[in-house]
Amino acid sequence: MTGQGPATVRVPLSDGGYDVLVGRGLLAGLGGLVRSTGVDAERVHVFEDTGVPQALRDAVVGSFEMARVTRSEFRLDETTKSIATLERMLVDLAEAGLARSDLVIALGGGILGDVAGLAAGLHRRGIRVVQCPTSLLAMVDASVGGKTGVNLRAGIDGSPVLLKNAVGMFHQPSLVVADVEALASLDPRELRCGMAECIKHAVISGETGQGLLSLSNLIDAMPRLLNGDATLLASLVEQSTCLKAGVVAGDERETATGSTPGRRALNLGHTFAHAIEGCEGTRVEVDDASHHPKHGEAVGLGLIAAGRLAEVLGVGSASLREGIENSVQAARLPATLSASPDLASLIAVMRQDKKASGGRLRLVVPTSSGVEMTDDPGDEALSRAWQCVI
Ligand SMILES: NC(=O)c1ccc[n+]([C@@H]2O[C@H](COP(=O)([O-])OP(=O)(O)OC[C@H]3O[C@@H](n4cnc5c(N)ncnc54)[C@H](O)[C@@H]3O)[C@@H](O)[C@H]2O)c1
Repeated sequence: MTGQGPATVRVPLSDGGYDVLVGRGLLAGLGGLVRSTGVDAERVHVFEDTGVPQALRDAVVGSFEMARVTRSEFRLDETTKSIATLERMLVDLAEAGLARSDLVIALGGGILGDVAGLAAGLHRRGIRVVQCPTSLLAMVDASVGGKTGVNLRAGIDGSPVLLKNAVGMFHQPSLVVADVEALASLDPRELRCGMAECIKHAVISGETGQGLLSLSNLIDAMPRLLNGDATLLASLVEQSTCLKAGVVAGDERETATGSTPGRRALNLGHTFAHAIEGCEGTRVEVDDASHHPKHGEAVGLGLIAAGRLAEVLGVGSASLREGIENSVQAARLPATLSASPDLASLIAVMRQDKKASGGRLRLVVPTSSGVEMTDDPGDEALSRAWQCVI
């Protein structure tokens, strides 16, 4: 970043794309930022995550002096990242009378951003949304790239499973505003969760990864990052969104096929993670208590399992897998599950993931130069990969 102004990362897309603004103290002046970037509207509806301090939410709403603003608040988790919440948001937008030219603001973590983005994509067949991520995970990943969605509850082999992001659409934001000062109120566990996606970005960058997108640099910087160093966090968000913007620009709608990963690179570790999140019986030890894993914790475990799978398949080295494990541990994320369903159940849920086609899994695995795709590796290799995290 230069001077006091925000850093701008461009997401260049076929329709022109949009900017990600990364800086400090941006949200209190959101209305002005939106106007200066030409995204303003007569009416604005703000979807607020109740985790964000009330004073910041009020400042965001108050910054839209020139527009009529309505607002509604949500306290969400993966079980309420649902069609029911989507419906509530759609009703809010209908009651607010937002026209096609109006604007939705998604102010919160990745869950709120994903559902609010979907509501914006569906209201009157699509109105603009400005993503204002307030968790680290949402800043470095969820708010950029236009994937929106909700989870579905289903029964797989007789067991209840949460199918992650099973319903959704691509609806690119018109602007993303990442204000790292918002991270000051974030629970430390949530900050650590965001690190999992940063580790993913460093692995995708491979040996050419520079700055905080090199695993060894990220490990070195981790104590300061976890301590909330705002300057370093701003660099991490900028570098991570830059990596994500480049991947998304190369494959906007994840249509790459065959051996070219394209946007699927960003799914590294996620097929494992979605099984971990989807099965009710999974547990991790965090802060001396047993919990169902959060998304970032599941991603950390999924990255380790993907590293092990690459090793088993002979496409990734033991040292790469160790580098991933060391990063996960440096971020003080769980490196093993403390309880889990049996292997067959985990693999069955993996096969339900939407990245599987006709029951054939296509997985992303890490290599020294980044990532590559692997066709269904079979239950034996998958079991060996799972065994290093259970
Ligand atoms: N769309 C995508 O491309 C994409 C990519 C990665 C992840 N995701 C999704 O993102 C979700 C996870 O996002 P998340 O980790 O942000 O979880 P989250 O949305 O649950 O937010 C974490 C918690 O922090 C609270 N919070 C948020 N901002 C805060 C702040 N500034 N101060 C205090 N508390 C705050 C929230 O209320 C919540 O309790 C998952 O559902 C995942 O599937 C989507």
